[in-house]
Amino acid sequence: MFFLWSFVLPTLIHAATVTFPPTVGVGASDVLYTSSASSFDSLKISNVNSTTYEWYYFDAISDDGSYSVVATFFVAPDTAFPFTGSPTMTLKVLLSIQTPDSDVFYLNGAFATDAQVTTDGDGASGVWEGTGLSFNGSSDMSSYEVVIDSADVMGVTGTISMQSIAPAHYPCSAAQAGETMQLMPNIGWANAIPDSQATIQLEINGQNVSFTGSGYHDMNWGDIPFTDAVGTWHWGHGRLGPYSLVWFDGTSQDGTPYASGYVSMNGAIIGTQCSGVNVTASTSGFDIGIDLGDEGVLQAQFSTDHTLLSFDGVYYRWSGSLVGGISGGEQYTGSAMFDEFDFTSS
Ligand SMILES: *[C@@H]1O[C@H](CO)[C@@H](O)[C@H](O)[C@H]1NC(C)=O
Ligand SMILES: *[C@@H]1O[C@H](CO)[C@@H](O)[C@H](O)[C@H]1NC(C)=O
Ligand SMILES: *[C@@H]1O[C@H](CO)[C@@H](O)[C@H](O)[C@H]1NC(C)=O
Ligand SMILES: *[C@@H]1O[C@H](CO)[C@@H](O)[C@H](O)[C@H]1NC(C)=O
Repeated sequence: MFFLWSFVLPTLIHAATVTFPPTVGVGASDVLYTSSASSFDSLKISNVNSTTYEWYYFDAISDDGSYSVVATFFVAPDTAFPFTGSPTMTLKVLLSIQTPDSDVFYLNGAFATDAQVTTDGDGASGVWEGTGLSFNGSSDMSSYEVVIDSADVMGVTGTISMQSIAPAHYPCSAAQAGETMQLMPNIGWANAIPDSQATIQLEINGQNVSFTGSGYHDMNWGDIPFTDAVGTWHWGHGRLGPYSLVWFDGTSQDGTPYASGYVSMNGAIIGTQCSGVNVTASTSGFDIGIDLGDEGVLQAQFSTDHTLLSFDGVYYRWSGSLVGGISGGEQYTGSAMFDEFDFTSS
């Protein structure tokens, strides 16, 4: 009984601070899929068990696509999300860094001894104890910082700082109460920072890596194992001149298609929708189309220039160039991040 208390206590989703133990919980998870008026970036699952998961994700890419960094904070056993490396330990952090010298300059992970997530207004802050990694968001989500104080564990110190330039959104709507947070059945998504001015200053095993560019932050969660929910998944984000883009196009395990497209221009949303969005494979990467109605059709070509991660042919992460604009209008060149999952042949 004494043993069980430590797993039963962290069940208050709206409490200011939630603490997660390092090991998988028992019993049912409470899962949120409908938005509230605030707490945009709060935890969506209390008591993560062996079939549920959530994570906070941060990335940044330089304008020319030659530098990138990704930091992910998981509460996820690998029985629920198959890439975290342990069926019992849930609190993985993953850090990957790309530089002009190497597509995978640095890749490392560690497990935390516990984790605390605090919600303040719409923003959240999290500490993954024992890893040296934490993140810190302002209550209005206008700024986020990932702090890496991990010379001893990860061999990295420094910061990823983001000043938002694009309003938060859910899969099919702006950030407002009563909206669905489901990207597809059993998968939640809340995108606190679709785009930001990012400043990255890191020291990795004694070498400095600094760049500026486009920064992004979101969270995902699910109430059944990820591979039971997802068939295919094509997600990415990038910037083209005044436009900030986020796209998703995929299928659920039964083959039903789901899509989401977001475009903001100079800080205002001009599209956040679940229809009129295509992501299709091309010879050099992927073509993205988002129909913005009266604003026209935004079309962009992403090139898979750098392979940052790959796993058993079912998962890839790329960075690369993004070229496009409103069809018939001015064309821009930028950079983008792109993830693919494909479980249909496994
Ligand atoms: C985990 O929680 C989910 C959601 O409440 C529930 O459906 C599932 O049965 C739980 N899994 C286990 C192994 O208890
Ligand atoms: C992060 O925390 C520090 C110290 O509490 C604070 O000064 C800073 O403003 C915070 N940053 C953000 C983005 O909230
Ligand atoms: C890295 O940058 C910091 C701060 O600018 C500086 O103090 C340090 O000497 C640099 N380290 C290396 C190895 O260049
Ligand atoms: C999506 O693809 C369909 C079928 O090829 C096409 O008719 C439609 O115009 C495309 N829409 C966008 C926004 O790219």
